[in-house]
Amino acid sequence: MTILLPFVAMTLFSPPEIPLLRGPVALSHLMLRQFVHPGDTVVDATCGNGNDTLLLAELVGATGRVWAFDIQSEAICQTTRRLAHAGCAGQVRFIQAGHETMAEHVSAGVAAVAFNLGYLPGGDRTLITRPETTLSACQQALTLLKPGGMVAVTAYPGHDGGDSEHAAVDAWAAALAPRAFHAWRMGQMNVPDTAPYFIMIQKAF
Ligand SMILES: C[S@@+](CC[C@H](N)C(=O)[O-])C[C@H]1O[C@@H](n2cnc3c(N)ncnc32)[C@H](O)[C@@H]1O
Repeated sequence: MTILLPFVAMTLFSPPEIPLLRGPVALSHLMLRQFVHPGDTVVDATCGNGNDTLLLAELVGATGRVWAFDIQSEAICQTTRRLAHAGCAGQVRFIQAGHETMAEHVSAGVAAVAFNLGYLPGGDRTLITRPETTLSACQQALTLLKPGGMVAVTAYPGHDGGDSEHAAVDAWAAALAPRAFHAWRMGQMNVPDTAPYFIMIQKAF
C-alpha cells in the first residue's frame, strides 16, 4: 500500500478553485471559461479596462485570437497595457471603433462575444453603450458565432440610459427563435431590481 505524505496528498488532490459568484461579471467569466478554448477566435465588444479581454486572451492562448473593441482611446490604451503586462497581447487585435462595425472586422466562426455594457469605470460616465448600436452589434454577433458558441452580455439597468438599454436587449433576446438560439437571463435575487445581471445566448446551429 502506498502512503502519501500529507502535503503530497494535498498537492495531488486539492479541489479546483471555487469562484465566488459576486455579481454578473463573475458569472459571465464562469460561462466564458466553459465555452472558450485554446485556439478559438472570440470578441470583446467593450474592452474598457481590460478585465474581460485579459480572461479571453488567457483562454484562447497564443494560437487564438481576441478582437477587442472600444470607442475610447483611454480604454484601448489601458487594455493594451494590461495585456502586455500579462504577456498575452500577441493574440489580441484592438479596434478603436463602435462594436456596431463588428462584422466589418471579424469573420464568422467565433466561439464567444462578450459585452459589458454601460460606461468605463473610472472614466467619462456620459460615454455609454446605447440601445441602437448595442442591438446592432448583438445581432451581428449572432451571425458570427459558430454553432454552440455564445454571446455573453452583462447589463446595467441602474445608470442613466441603462434602463432603456437593458429593456431593449431583454426584448431582443426574448424574441429570438428558440430552436436556433438558447437565450438565458440570470440575475442575483437578493439584490435590488436595478442591480446588473447576465444574459447569455447560445447559437444552436
Ligand atoms: C462597462 S465598460 C466595459 C468594461 C470592460 N469589459 C472591462 O472588463 O473592464 C463599457 C465600455 O463600453 C465602451 N463603449 C461604449 N459604446 C461603445 C460602442 N458602441 N462600441 C464599443 N465600445 C463601446 C465604453 O467606452 C466603455 O469602455
